Amino acid sequence: MSRSGKVTVVGAGFYGSTTALRLAEYDIFETVVLTDIVEGKPEGIALDINQSRSIEGFETKLVGKSTTADGAGYEATANSDVVVITAGLPRKPGMSRMDLIGVNAGIVRGVAENIAKHSPNAVLIVVSNPLDEMTALAQIASKFPHNRVMGQAGMLDTARFTHFVAEKLNVPVASVKTLTLGSHGETMVPVPSRCTVNGKALSELLSSAEIEELVTRTRNGGAEIVALLKTGSAYYAPSAAAARMARAVITDSREVMPVCAWVTGEYGISGVYLGVEAEIGRVGVNKVVEGKLTSQELEELKKAAEAVRSKQADVKDL
Ligand code: NAI
Ligand code: 2OP
Repeated sequence: MSRSGKVTVVGAGFYGSTTALRLAEYDIFETVVLTDIVEGKPEGIALDINQSRSIEGFETKLVGKSTTADGAGYEATANSDVVVITAGLPRKPGMSRMDLIGVNAGIVRGVAENIAKHSPNAVLIVVSNPLDEMTALAQIASKFPHNRVMGQAGMLDTARFTHFVAEKLNVPVASVKTLTLGSHGETMVPVPSRCTVNGKALSELLSSAEIEELVTRTRNGGAEIVALLKTGSAYYAPSAAAARMARAVITDSREVMPVCAWVTGEYGISGVYLGVEAEIGRVGVNKVVEGKLTSQELEELKKAAEAVRSKQADVKDL
């Protein structure tokens, strides 16, 4: 079997290490590099994952490399095809994602600059929070074209919505299709009109009050897990989402996925990173795909765009 592509995961915390494991277990990449500023942490995790290869039956090797904020160690990431940026603090109970902006902006800016120096043709997938703002900042700091910088949020929020619908109706998750757009925050826009169960509209199976309850739980999906964990935030579903996006890029799959992408007129919205559906391939975002929304959902999406636009305008100074 031929393996190809180099993926770097920056940040070897819960999100980064589980993403690296998932990527390695796909067994389709030539190399997965994992970095962190904590001396020895990425090397230790890489060694541990590599030792699982004979049990799980995959050959992709992980390379762990400690880096410094001023860029030492980044040579190990050189010529990556895809870079997943997970570096940054997670939330604690009671914190909003926006509370992380000051400290994570400094981290994401430095990471994006160092990555751009060593992997000028990479596609960046940002996951650090606050997601929509950190994606915008990574584009500014890397100076990459907008299509080569996207954020992971919609895949996760949609997966949460799907899980909640499947649980409510006691059906397999595979029979459920849902969608969330907008921001990865308070202005997230779950889209009930695009939700089906075995092809049947969700509105035929649940009352509006029941759907609204699932929508609210989806919007609070991250906070629900933070409150339970008490230290840190979710990482199993988030890493599955980011790993799938990286795979879509390297395999040029052209799958349509909900991601945080730069919009240029779709839904009448321009010049902002926003959660939308997009076709993902080797160039990053091939194109944003505009779907049908109800007038209320469209209004909510426009509200989300304006909320993140003002925050994204500020990040260039952070
Ligand atoms: P964590 O605390 O387990 O790991 C963060 C890692 O980043 C640490 O190992 C830390 O040493 C490292 N780091 C800090 N500065 C760095 C730098 N300059 N270069 C390289 N590594 C650096 O946190 P976790 O759970 O892995 O979360 C990471 C980020 O992902 C957080 O900002 C969190 O809010 C976000 N997140 C985003 C989600 C999304 O859907 N977009 C979902 C879940 C988490
Ligand atoms: C999540 O949604 C905290 O953004 C993170 O789990």
